[in-house]
Formats: sequence, C-alpha cells, structure tokens
Amino acid sequence: MKRSLLFALCLMIGACAQRADSPMLIPSVNEIEYGRKSFSLPKTAGIYADSELVSAGEYLKEAFADRVCFQGVTPEDATVRLLMDRSVAGIDTYRLSVTHAKVEIRCNSYGGAVAAIATLRQLAVKGDVPCCHIEDSARFAWRGFMLDVSRHFFTKEEVMQLLDYMALYKFNKFHWHLTDDQGWRIELDAYPELTTQGAWRKPNNHDEECMQLASRQDDSTYLLPEDRHVTLRGDRLYGGYYTKTDIREVVAYAAKRGIDVIPEVDMPGHSQRAIAVYPTLSCFDKASWGTVFSAPLCLGKDQTIQFCKNVYREIFELFPYKYVHIGGDEVEKDNWERCPRCQSRISHLGLKDEKELQSWFIKEMADFFEVHGKKLIGWDEIEEGGLQNNQTVMWWRSWSERSFRNAITAGNEAIISNNEYFYLSQAENRGTLRKVYEFDIDGMFEDSIPTSVKGIQAHLWAETIPTFEKCCFRLFPRLLAVSEQAWRRPSGDFEEFERRAFAHLENIFDADSLNYRIPDLKGFCDRNVFVGQTMVKLSAPLQNTEIYYTTDGTIPTQASNRYTDGIVITEDTTLKLRCYTPTGHAGEIVTLSYIATDYLPAVEAKSLYEGLQADWYDFKGETCAGIDSAAFLGRYVVPTVAIPQGVSGNIGLVFSGYIEVPEDGIYSFFLESDDGSVLDIDGVRVIDNDGPHSRLERSGQVALAKGLHHLSARYFDYNGGMLKFGAIDSAGQRIALPAAWRLLHE
Ligand code: ACM
Ligand code: ZN
Repeated sequence: MKRSLLFALCLMIGACAQRADSPMLIPSVNEIEYGRKSFSLPKTAGIYADSELVSAGEYLKEAFADRVCFQGVTPEDATVRLLMDRSVAGIDTYRLSVTHAKVEIRCNSYGGAVAAIATLRQLAVKGDVPCCHIEDSARFAWRGFMLDVSRHFFTKEEVMQLLDYMALYKFNKFHWHLTDDQGWRIELDAYPELTTQGAWRKPNNHDEECMQLASRQDDSTYLLPEDRHVTLRGDRLYGGYYTKTDIREVVAYAAKRGIDVIPEVDMPGHSQRAIAVYPTLSCFDKASWGTVFSAPLCLGKDQTIQFCKNVYREIFELFPYKYVHIGGDEVEKDNWERCPRCQSRISHLGLKDEKELQSWFIKEMADFFEVHGKKLIGWDEIEEGGLQNNQTVMWWRSWSERSFRNAITAGNEAIISNNEYFYLSQAENRGTLRKVYEFDIDGMFEDSIPTSVKGIQAHLWAETIPTFEKCCFRLFPRLLAVSEQAWRRPSGDFEEFERRAFAHLENIFDADSLNYRIPDLKGFCDRNVFVGQTMVKLSAPLQNTEIYYTTDGTIPTQASNRYTDGIVITEDTTLKLRCYTPTGHAGEIVTLSYIATDYLPAVEAKSLYEGLQADWYDFKGETCAGIDSAAFLGRYVVPTVAIPQGVSGNIGLVFSGYIEVPEDGIYSFFLESDDGSVLDIDGVRVIDNDGPHSRLERSGQVALAKGLHHLSARYFDYNGGMLKFGAIDSAGQRIALPAAWRLLHE
C-alpha cells in the first residue's frame, strides 16, 4: 500500500495521531494513525489466514481464546484476516488495520504476522481495540533471549510461558543453554546417563547461596522448588531434564509464535556434568576444577571428539533452526598443557598452543555443523584463534570489544549481547532500566550498523535464580527495554518509555500475576539528615504498590506498618521499606538512614579558584581509601566531580576543594560510578558508593550552614569506567549542581 493511500484511508476512518485511550505499545511502532471508533471484540468471529499463515492464525486464536471463539471462514466473510503480501519490504514488516468491524493483517513473512498479533494483543489489553492503521517493521532480524536451565532448572511449562511473553514483545530467537557444569538437561538416546545421572546433583554452592539469600531477604522466591527434587539411592538430589518429546513440544510452541530455538550444549569447557558421568571424556579421567573454570573435555582423544559429534547429531534432529550454539566460552587450559594426548594433537596438527587447539576444535565442529546444514554460533572466545566464515560470534565480554570488532571486520556474523547491558541476571538498581534503554548501539559504529551484526540478545544466567518468580523479577521490566532496542532505535525519551513500561506492569503483569521488579520509590536518599524533625513522604511510580515499613531493623512484611501519607521521624532512625504488588509479590528491601543533625558550620578560606583539584593515581586496588598510596600521575582542575579529559586506563582520582552554598539548608547529592566512589563534606561521609561494582548510584544528604565547606571525593575504575556527580532536586530528579552551589579550590 502506498503512503498516500494510507493517509486516504486514515481520513476515511477519521484518523488522529493519538487518542486519550490509546494503549501504550512496547516496542513502539513505526507509524500509527488512530481512528475515532473502536473494534469491540465479539464473542464469536470468523477468521481467515493465507496458507503460510495458518499457524499464526492458530496462535491468534489461542491468544484471544478467553475472549473470542474464532471459526475458520472465507476471506470475504472473515472478521479477522491474515494475508501474506511479499511486495512489502523490511524485516518482519506488517500492516495492521483495525476498523470498527474488521481486523486485517498484511505481512511479508511469518515473523511479520506474529509481530502484528503481538501489537493486536497489546491494543486489546484494556478490552476494545481502538480503530487504527499501523505500519511497522523491525530494526534487527535477531531479537534474542537466552535462558540458562543448567544452574537451576525451569520446567517446560515455565519455558513456554516465557516464550509467550517473548512473542508479546516481538522477540524471535530463544537460546536455550541446556548444559553446563551444574546439570545436563536434554535427554539423548546415545548417552542416557547424561540425564539419568547428569540431570541430578547434590546441593551445591549456588543452592547454598540461594538459601542464604532466601533467609537474609525473607524471600521465598530464592527457595529451590520441591518439585525439582528426587531421592536416588538414598540421596536427595536437585535437578530435572527435558525428554525429546518435551523438546519437540517446546520447539513447536515457539515456532507458532515465530520464535526459532537455538540449543546450546557448551563445549569444550563448562562440561563438568558430562565428565562426571563419563570421566574418560577428560584429560585425566576425572571431573575437576582448574584455576578459574572447570577442567574441559580432552581434545586429544578421538573418542571425545566423536562424543561431541554424536551429541550434536541428535541435537540437529531435534531443533529445526539452522543456527546451533556450541558455547566455547571460559575454557581452562591447564589440563591441556599437561595432557600428553592434547600435546600430541597440538604437535601432530602443527598448532602453536592450547588456544589454537581450542580453535581447531571449534573449526572442526563448525565444519561438522555445516555438513549437517547447520551454522555454528559460539561465545566471543571462539574468535581468539581465528575464525572461519561459517562461525557466528555472540559477543558477551564487554571488556573484550576487540573480539566483536575482529569478528565483524573479518566479515563474520555477530550478535551484540555484551554483559554490561544484556546480562539481566545481574541485580537491578535505580539506574539499570535506563542504562539498557539508553545503550547507543548505532553510536558504536561510524556509519550505519553493519549488516553482519544480526541483532541483539539478552541473557539470564540462573546461578542464583532457582524459581520462575525470581526469573521474572530479574527480567522485567528490563526485558521490555531490550525489546524496544531490538525492534526500534529508542527515541531517547527515557521518561516516555518508562511510562509505557510501567503501564505494562500494571495492565499486563499484574493482571497475569506475573512477577517483576517494582519500580523504585521516590522521596529519599540512601543517607538522609534532618534538623529537628522530618516527615518522610514516599511516592511510588505504580499506583497499586503497597509500601510497608519498619523502624526496628526487622524486614518489613505485609503485617508491618503500612505507609499511607507520611512517616514522622524525630530521632536517628533506620527505616526499612518493602513494596508489594497487588498480587502479593514482594520488592527489594530498601534500607535508609535518617540522622538528626545541626547545620555544619561554614569554614574560612582565602584565594579560591573555580573548580576542584583532581589528582590522578595509577591505581589498581578495590577501595577508595588506598588511591593516594599508588603512583601519582598528574594534577587537573575540573569543573565538577568527573573524569578529567585524557585520564584513562588505571584510574584512581582524588578530588579536593570546597563547596559554597547560598543558604542554610539540607543538600542532596548523588554519585553514580563504575567502579567505586565516595563523597565527604566537612569530614562527613555523605555518599558511600565504594568497592568494585558495575554502574551504580548512591545518594546522600548533608545539612550545611550558608558559606564554604570542605569537599573531597574519590573514584576508581577497575574495568569499565564512568563517573557522574550531581544534585537531587525536591522532586527527586537528578540534576547538575545548581549554579548557586559553587565548587572551588585553593
Ligand atoms: C558466559 O557468560 N560465560 C558466556
Ligand atoms: Zn587432553
């Protein structure tokens, strides 16, 4: 359809760009014109789908099954029509027209049809569907999500639930991390013991950590579910696996939703479970641990290579998609250095070292995959010994962007999934949703994104995620920001995205009783001060959030005090807060200190200059305290607490000077950093954001009398590096220091 025709149609339906009741779509669509009327979902309706879209029609029926009973009819009689139109360009392109009487989807692919259904599902969230015309297509062809089911096991029903939400948010690749050191989860005919033994284990260090978290945070979603335990030969064991029938069922369920399934059987490292079952697969016939990672498969033994191929031969039969993931990450090479067979393979093949041995194995497997019509994907370590063009690189190590660049420069396909942004198993904080949304993928390239970049992918590693509830808590709402990134280049208006994401939490997640991380409350710093007494006023971004609190140090529960319209504080107090969703899911525990204080008196100083002094040290340590014992590298004057131009590599910075404030008052600051940072004013630790960590914000208050006060800040960067400092205004917004608060030095 030509654009002019679209707008003629829009005029006919009385189009407008926005309506008060327009649902908030995630990801947002390229073009939408609303009409004035709505399409009321009928109790029964006729549906027609072109032959290639029959399964999509089935999916649509299932998605609306609780509201509409669909019957198959001719195109002329259909209320809902799914039509293939290959003349339309673009990735997963579709046009969705909703009039008061009919719904029509035209698409250029199966992916376009399921994307249109996702949009329709979201449009219908509140009941009637607003009349509209949408033109939409994807930014990336690869919109992936990976689930680790080895460290902790997720049932096929849980996997299918996730697939359904993936489809709702237009993800189309499901990477299933099926094996690792802690559990083998896929039944294979050639090696039945991999699951009869390898799927079960005694409680391990991850389980221990989960138990501790469950108790420390009074959080039952850290408890290993009862239904994932068996008793074998008197031992209570944890685990689970998928039969071949389960796998086929999941693959079919995904396919109907336009999702390809990429299995991963991690080799030659992360193979301890397989080695525990068949010890001769390893160099020294036993499962063991090396310096950092588990001891790998022995690549000197022909029988091990045969095992790898036999495993993948069965995998190929189960998974119809072309791409299959071999892992290839984090391979401990100590055993190979000491193993006569591995050394003999190295010398026989004329390889340089153990890195080349790993590379030889990946190439051997890539060729084996290719012979079977498959294409190998590996984690970015597979690039280290050189790549063949039949290898796709999944970039995960944020600190090794070089591997990603090397891959695309060599013309290999690559997927962006660097851990800093896409490892959603990492705990969230106040800044993480914004961080994913604001990741500037286009900004990584001088020109447009190269076509060898297939797309992006998020990952969930399950070491400390033993339940589906905890999995959803970690994924949402961050996965919605990944969805926005995968489908469209974000507009840059984070607050607008956040409003949409929050609407989804209330309208979809609460309605489905699906867990998510409750958005951060507002109205406080980590460290708060008051003079006399104070009234704590909290605000929650979601209307239905219930807030409970304690002042005696205990963890708040739904039996604790419920926050209504303020908490009066008259003495030093530790306030603990915990939110609950309307369906009873608990949020994180927030611990705040309230400190009774007087205004710190101003100090005297003469001959001051604008800005702060910043001293740079060659620092490699892990706490701010040690920075100035490292070698001094240079002195700078900076307008605020920020990394001076030209400072990089090992960074330890000590900022010193004064802050001048215009009146007696309580002043609020934040420090966001990767790694640690601290802020002291007049010798008081106002913000403690110390220690090695990824990007994290902490905030603090101090009561200051009008005039000058000593200010000192410290920052170090272990691996990554960012530093942001500013004030917090009365609405809780993070802002640059107001001009009236001056930073000065001697
Ligand atoms: C990985 O996180 N080892 C891919
Ligand atoms: Zn060996």
